[in-house]
Amino acid sequence: MTIQWFPGHMTRARRQIEEKLKLLDLVIELIDARLPLSSRNPMIDDILQGKPRLIVLNKADLADPSVTREWIEYFRQEGHVAVQVDAASGQGIKEIPVKAKELMREKIERQIAKGMNPRAIRALIVGIPNVGKSTLINRMAGKNIAATGDRPGVTKAQQWIKIGTDLELLDTPGILWPKFEDQNVGYRLAVTGAIREEILNLEDIAFFGVKYLVQYYWEALSERFDLKEQPQDPDNPDEIVAVMEAIGRKRGCIVSGGRVDLEKASGIFLRELRAGKLGRYTLEAPFHLNKPALL
Ligand code: G4P
Repeated sequence: MTIQWFPGHMTRARRQIEEKLKLLDLVIELIDARLPLSSRNPMIDDILQGKPRLIVLNKADLADPSVTREWIEYFRQEGHVAVQVDAASGQGIKEIPVKAKELMREKIERQIAKGMNPRAIRALIVGIPNVGKSTLINRMAGKNIAATGDRPGVTKAQQWIKIGTDLELLDTPGILWPKFEDQNVGYRLAVTGAIREEILNLEDIAFFGVKYLVQYYWEALSERFDLKEQPQDPDNPDEIVAVMEAIGRKRGCIVSGGRVDLEKASGIFLRELRAGKLGRYTLEAPFHLNKPALL
C-alpha cells in the first residue's frame, strides 16, 4: 500500500497520534530491521512529546542478524530500549510486554507505593506504511483484529486489545510518513518494497540495490545469479549495469538483437531480493566507522 504524503495527510496523521497520546502510557515505535533509520519517521521525537517508547525492529527474519544486534546496541546507547521481532511468525513478540513493563517500572512502583492497583499498560503501535503494524497487532492479539492497509484519515471506533494481563494495545495503529529529504532513503525504502515502484524508476531502484549488494553482499549476489567477476569500482555505473545485464541474461531477459531487457531484469532481481532469495541483508549499519558507505 502506498500513501501519497501531502502536507495535509502528514498534519492529519500527526494530529491523530497526538490525540491518542493522552490515553497512552507507552508508544511502540515499529521500524524495519533492514533499514532502521530510513524506516523511522523524521519527526518522531517531536510527535511523541516525551512519551515512554519501546523501539521494535520488525522483519528481523529478513535482516542481517549481526547488524540487527549492532542496531539494538546503538539504540541502547541512545537511551532507548529496543527489541527485534519477526511479526509474521511471532518470533520475539513475547519480549514486547516484558520490555514494556520494564520501561514503566518506576510508574508502576509509584502507584503501588500510593496503595493503587496498577492497571495494564496502555500502548499504541506507530510506524510507516508496510512496516508490519497490522501483522504485529494481529500476532500479539492471536487473531485478526487490525485490517492491513489502514489509511490515515479513516476513523473507526477504537478498542483496547488485552495482551496477557499487563498490556493493552489500541487495535488501530498510528500511521506515520517516512523520510523524504534524502534520495537514498527513498531508494532504500523502495528496494525493500516499502514504497511503490511507480514513485521511483524501477531500473534505478534495482541499480541502487545491485550496487549495494556488490559492495556488501557480493557472495550472496554472485552465488544467486552465477556472477563471475566482482566489479572493481562499484562507483563506476557501467560496471553495475554490466552486473544487471548478467542477472538479466541468467534469467533469460533477452530481447531482439541479444540485448538484455533491463527493466525485466530489474523486476526479477527486486522480487527475488524482497522474497529473501538472496539471503538476509541490511541496508544501513549504525556504526559507520568501518562501513562508511552504509549511512
Ligand atoms: P502495515 O500495517 O504497517 O502497513 O504493514 P502490514 O502489517 O500490512 O505488513 C506489510 C507486509 O509486511 C505484509 O506482507 C506482511 O506480511 C509483511 N510482514 C510484516 N511483518 C513481517 C515480518 O516480521 N517478517 C516478514 N518477512 N514479513 C513481514 P505483504 O506482502 O503485504 O502481504 P502478505 O504477503 O503477508 O500477504
